[in-house]
Amino acid sequence: MKFFVDTADIAEIRDLADAGLLDGVTTNPSLVAKAGRDFTEILHDICAVVDGPVSAEVTATDAAGMIAEGEKLAQVAPNIAVKVPLTIDGLKACRHLTGNGIMVNVTLCFSPVQALMAGKAGATFVSPFVGRLDDISQDGMALIEDIRQIFDNYDAIGTEILVASVRNPTHVLRAALIGADVCTIPPSTLRQLVKHPLTDIGLQNFLADWAKTGQKIG
Ligand code: E4P
Repeated sequence: MKFFVDTADIAEIRDLADAGLLDGVTTNPSLVAKAGRDFTEILHDICAVVDGPVSAEVTATDAAGMIAEGEKLAQVAPNIAVKVPLTIDGLKACRHLTGNGIMVNVTLCFSPVQALMAGKAGATFVSPFVGRLDDISQDGMALIEDIRQIFDNYDAIGTEILVASVRNPTHVLRAALIGADVCTIPPSTLRQLVKHPLTDIGLQNFLADWAKTGQKIG
């Protein structure tokens, strides 16, 4: 499973990229607002450090507007994936942009049949939002299971399942067990993935015992 980081914070992205943890990046208008910087500059900065897909979301709501914005965003770098909402206009824009060789991430997916529509529109990625479904007492990960099954039923669908709105390591674990293609993860959750209390205690104990030997390596 590929790991994308879900942020527009370039410092976080650089740090995680240095650790070799990133296969890509997702942003959205809320994350760009939080970063408080010019969107195009943010995208240039991210694409300078990450080779994998970098999702950049359009803000137009009609197909023609989304296509125009998507083409503009795609000029930033060849690894830009234009993000469009899961609406009829979004699917029209998706079909057009992917037809011209531009990667498209169809976002705000909340049902299996919506994902099927994104697949039929030729999306590169579809982003089901698991956390937001959990927030309204639905099972976000059940949606991922359904989409996996549907996509596996049809060889013609080449769309990757990009699990989004991830809130905790359990979401990541379940996504991997189901066989999702990608998880986009907030930086804090990505760091949580390597943590285990027994690792910390074990390391502390090894170092204490090693100190007793009085030895040095090298
Ligand atoms: C995905 O691409 C979105 O940017 C993101 O995962 C949304 O997450 P949220 O529900 O925590 O805002």
